[in-house]
Amino acid sequence: MSIKKSVVLFSGNGSNLKNLIEKSEDIKDKLKYVAAFTNNPKAGGINICHSLDLDVCINNDKNIDSELLVFLKKHNPDLIILAGYMKIIPAEIVDEYAGKIINIHPSLLPKYPGLNTHAKVLANKDANHGATVHFVTRDLDQGPIILQGKFNVPVDSNESTLKNLTHQSEYVIYPIAVKWFADGVIKMNDGQLYVNNKAIDSPILLLID
Ligand code: GAR
Repeated sequence: MSIKKSVVLFSGNGSNLKNLIEKSEDIKDKLKYVAAFTNNPKAGGINICHSLDLDVCINNDKNIDSELLVFLKKHNPDLIILAGYMKIIPAEIVDEYAGKIINIHPSLLPKYPGLNTHAKVLANKDANHGATVHFVTRDLDQGPIILQGKFNVPVDSNESTLKNLTHQSEYVIYPIAVKWFADGVIKMNDGQLYVNNKAIDSPILLLID
């Protein structure tokens, strides 16, 4: 089996990117990280790419989608990992790379797609919160869910507490989902998630304490 090529898209600190690469040793014969792409020339993740010796393509928001397409054509990835990439992937790219794009989102989808998820959890006094890895489809934050990490919201939490706990759950679930992809365990066909070739409709949930 040939080694799958993966690229990572980010807009901010890049802590998920760092965590993914640091935890990729056990899949190095199956998947390699070939390059990263950011829409934010000030993103902290750029330094992480440099320190990890990962080629990074830096753009600003002007013509970002055509730059992204050029980047993808150049690298021809088997897997596109969105790790805090805060731009919407245009429908043409989603369609061209269907089943090859995964995203991590800081909520227990379908709850709280979009922004400000931690504030919404606090405003609604939710007992639980977490993160979701899902395949990307044309509908924002609504593609088939691969894996979720769920935790109890501690008493007296604020946004910073929840952001930190959410990141901790992301660091657990994203490497697992990438490993499943590398191993050929998960696939998406026609908007349906398959695990070991079996159609799965209910989210796979990991409880994180
Ligand atoms: C993560 O919490 C990720 O879930 C979120 O951005 C953060 C990036 O952190 N993504 C989204 O909100 C996408 N809708 P990082 O740059 O430290 O990995």
